[in-house]
Amino acid sequence: MGDPNGLKTLFQGLLSQLSSYTRSRIATGLRVAIEKGGDVSMIYHIVSMLSPRGYYEDLPYPEPTEYYKTYSTAPRIRLPEPLEASGMDLFEAIRSRRSRRRYSRGSLSLSEVSTLLYYSLGVTGRAWWGGPKRAYPSAGALQPLEGYLYADKVEGLDNGIYHYNPGEHSLELLRKGNYSEELQWIALDQEHVGNAAAVIIVTAVYRRTASKYSHRSYRYAHWDTGFAGQNIYLVAEALGLATTAVGAFYDEELCKLLELDCIEEFPMILFPIGRR
Ligand SMILES: Cc1cc2nc3c(=O)[nH]c(=O)nc-3n(C[C@H](O)[C@H](O)[C@H](O)COP(=O)(O)O)c2cc1C
Repeated sequence: MGDPNGLKTLFQGLLSQLSSYTRSRIATGLRVAIEKGGDVSMIYHIVSMLSPRGYYEDLPYPEPTEYYKTYSTAPRIRLPEPLEASGMDLFEAIRSRRSRRRYSRGSLSLSEVSTLLYYSLGVTGRAWWGGPKRAYPSAGALQPLEGYLYADKVEGLDNGIYHYNPGEHSLELLRKGNYSEELQWIALDQEHVGNAAAVIIVTAVYRRTASKYSHRSYRYAHWDTGFAGQNIYLVAEALGLATTAVGAFYDEELCKLLELDCIEEFPMILFPIGRR
């Protein structure tokens, strides 16, 4: 859809769905994007700003009835209890945390995987209305994030792709197989992704957050991801493991691997994990 007439028709269709307030924000965003040499991110940046001068319309997403997905027919592996303590002080973990990209050939134990998933994305309590509270803070407690694990060298796990069910603290097997090379290619051929013993993939189910925060939701989903991601870094550090955040990946190819549509749910970041 490169032709200007087609784009104009699409754009008119969009504008007809929006309030005059949002339309004026888009106009400002377009002006800034042009001024900045075609930086289209500025359109979203401006549209998603909060302002005392107005508010954008609600989006047509219902309030969530669930805060994590369940693949009910998938074979599941109950994870062992996460470790209660790591032996490393929190302040020390913060100080020594680094992005580590060299992984030995050693495998991870299921207990390490359990500990990483629980303290990053796990359910750690209940809210007053009965919903789950998680190890990461979440805008509106709407908890858009999902976790997937690709296991390459994890004791007790077949190689393959799993979904983390935080309610049961279990892994749901989605697909057996060796996907290290494919994941490395998807991550723009970054070798540390292919060498990892496991890769945690964090995604977001956008409508959970968008049911409340409208056009600001894309920002919120990324903030939530940052908090969960720091948890992964610090737990890996405390366990003496190695990881690095990987934000460079081909989105649609990763969605295909995880069987996601990249709109309702989309990948946010990867964390290859390995032994040092
Ligand atoms: C959002 C985000 C995306 C990143 N993407 C990559 C990546 O694709 N590949 C990589 O090797 N490191 C990636 N990094 C790691 C940064 O390069 C790293 O945090 C930075 O160099 C600072 O080093 P430190 O984490 O050791 O303090 C990413 C970090 C963040 C926060």
